[in-house]
Amino acid sequence: TRHLLSIDDVSADDIAKLFATAAEMHDVQKREVKKLPALRGRTVINLFFEDSTRTRSSFEIAGKWLSADVINLSAKGSSASKGESLRDTVLTVTAMGVDGLVMRHSASGAAHQVAGWLDIPVVNAGDGMHEHPTQALLDCYTLQRQLGGPGSLEGKRIAIVGDLTHSRVFRSNVKALGKLGASVVAVAPPTLMPAGIAEWAKADGFATSYDLDAVLPEVDAVMMLRVQRERMSGGYFPTSREYTVGYGLTRPRLGLLRDGAPILHPGPMNRGLEISPEAADAASSRILDQVSAGVAIRMSVLYHLLAGEESA
Ligand code: CP
Repeated sequence: TRHLLSIDDVSADDIAKLFATAAEMHDVQKREVKKLPALRGRTVINLFFEDSTRTRSSFEIAGKWLSADVINLSAKGSSASKGESLRDTVLTVTAMGVDGLVMRHSASGAAHQVAGWLDIPVVNAGDGMHEHPTQALLDCYTLQRQLGGPGSLEGKRIAIVGDLTHSRVFRSNVKALGKLGASVVAVAPPTLMPAGIAEWAKADGFATSYDLDAVLPEVDAVMMLRVQRERMSGGYFPTSREYTVGYGLTRPRLGLLRDGAPILHPGPMNRGLEISPEAADAASSRILDQVSAGVAIRMSVLYHLLAGEESA
């Protein structure tokens, strides 16, 4: 059974195929009637143990536009709140005959664990601080379109800025951007740099910096990340004010970026903390393009995993 649990599961060639299909799906998004018959008769369950706006609704739209039956189940309102285990929950829902499972969970590794229990494709929609592969795919797809189409990420320099410690988006994007030939510079305050990042950066070939002002003029695009206060149990440092002064994409910092350099943020945004309204709403902001690409990428992923060998 094929799964998408990590960017490790896809090669550069696989990504190119997923992007080519996503481009076709993007055209479908512009049509008045958006349904394709590709997954007619298939059933997909979105099982979300953590909150989501973009990922859950875009997987639902993606499945529906491919004519799959889509069921949404969140931990709140399911029997998980009565103490049912993760294993019993996924075995129960798959016993109903679903063909694919999309899952978000706060525990790193949860999707891998579940994939080992099931013989249907599992898509990781975010597992703790580990990975969020479809987010990285939609981010790279958005950047590639902005920077000149297929192959255009090769040799480009991309800054990923913010709360790197808690970010599954960072971990998936470092892998995906690396596979597509981009060079990454990871920027964060020392307190939000993951432990052991120096060895990791050396092994995976990316750079790190504490100095956002020095990095911004050198990059082709900037990806801002959310400060994840809900994952900070022992208090919050630096303070919000210090964070914005040192690491926020403020109005004055926009002037440090190259003309037209795309600004990305996976959402949800803390406006006024890691990103100013002027940056979020700038002409070069691609944040809503990311959301739109999210549907196309998730249609592509569901299609390749579920449509069957003869049509994949
Ligand atoms: N980017 C992202 O995963 O957003 P949601 O948490 O709203 O799904």
